Amino acid sequence: MTPASLFGLRGRTALVTGSGRGIGAAIAKGLAGAGAHVVLHDVDTRHTDAVRDCILASGGQAMQISGDLALPDAGADLMRRAGAVAPIDILVINASAQVNAELADLTESDLDLQLAVNLRSTLGMLQVALPAMAQRNWGRVVSIGSVNQARPKAVVTAYAATKAAQHNIIQSQAREYARHNVLLNTLAPGLVDTDRNAARRNADPEAWNAYTRTLNWMGRAGRPEEMVGAALFLASDACSFMTGETIFLTGGF
Ligand SMILES: NC(=O)c1ccc[n+]([C@@H]2O[C@H](COP(=O)([O-])OP(=O)(O)OC[C@H]3O[C@@H](n4cnc5c(N)ncnc54)[C@H](OP(=O)(O)O)[C@@H]3O)[C@@H](O)[C@H]2O)c1
Repeated sequence: MTPASLFGLRGRTALVTGSGRGIGAAIAKGLAGAGAHVVLHDVDTRHTDAVRDCILASGGQAMQISGDLALPDAGADLMRRAGAVAPIDILVINASAQVNAELADLTESDLDLQLAVNLRSTLGMLQVALPAMAQRNWGRVVSIGSVNQARPKAVVTAYAATKAAQHNIIQSQAREYARHNVLLNTLAPGLVDTDRNAARRNADPEAWNAYTRTLNWMGRAGRPEEMVGAALFLASDACSFMTGETIFLTGGF
C-alpha cells in the first residue's frame, strides 16, 4: 500500500454540490488534485467557472452542471443528469441552506428552504446514487454536516436539526449499503471562514475576531482548505472500514 494507492482517485468521478465557492470549491479542487474527474455543481454554471478554470490550469479534469436544490425533485434530477455524463463514484453533499434566526422569528419559507435543500435534495440524490454505486461495488458519500448537528444553538435551531437529520440519513444508508462497498460518512466542520459568514465578519471585524478567539480550543475559524484532507480520506480507498460515522473538524470544542 502506498499513499497513491490509498488516496489516489484516478479513474473516479466525483460530484460536489455547491462547489462554486467556500468548502465545496476547496474540496472539489482537492479531489481533482488527487486525480478525480470532478463534476462541479451550483445553482448557475457561471458560479463554477473560476473553480473549473483553476482545476483545468492545474492539469485536472472538471465539468459543470447546474441545478437549484431548493426545487422539488432537484436532488434526484441532478444525480440522473450527472450520472448520464459519467457514473458518479463519489458524491459530496455540500450545498446547504442556512437561515440564522431565533425560532420565533423563523418564517415558513425559511423553514421550507432549509428542509428542501438540506434534507429533501439529500434524500433524492441518495435514491439515485446509491443503487448505481452498489451495482459497481464501489461508492463513497461525503455528507457535509456541522458542529451544530451535535451542539445546536437557538439561533440555528432549524438548520442544526436538518444537519442532525442529514447524518441520520447517512447512518441508515451506511448500514444498508455497507456490504456493497458503498461507504457513507459525515464531515462536520465547526466555524469556517467562507462567504457564508462574510456579512457578520465584515459588519464588525473586531467583534468577529473576539468571537473566533473564544470559539474553540484553537481560537480561530477554520479555512476551507483545512476540510480537504478529511474529505479526501472519506472519498478514497483509504477509507475502507469506516461507514456511518462523523469526522468533526472544529479546532476543538
Ligand atoms: N462555513 C461554515 O462555518 C460552516 C460550518 C459548518 C458547516 N458548514 C457546511 O459546509 C457546507 C459549505 O458551507 P460554505 O460555508 O462553504 O457555504 P457557502 O460559502 O455559503 O457556499 C455554499 C455553496 O452552495 C451553493 N448553494 C447554496 N444553495 C444552493 C441551492 N439551493 N442549490 C444549489 N447550490 C446551492 C452556493 O451557491 P451560490 O454561490 O450560487 O450561492 C455555494 O456555492 C454547507 O453544507 C454548510 O452547512 C459550513
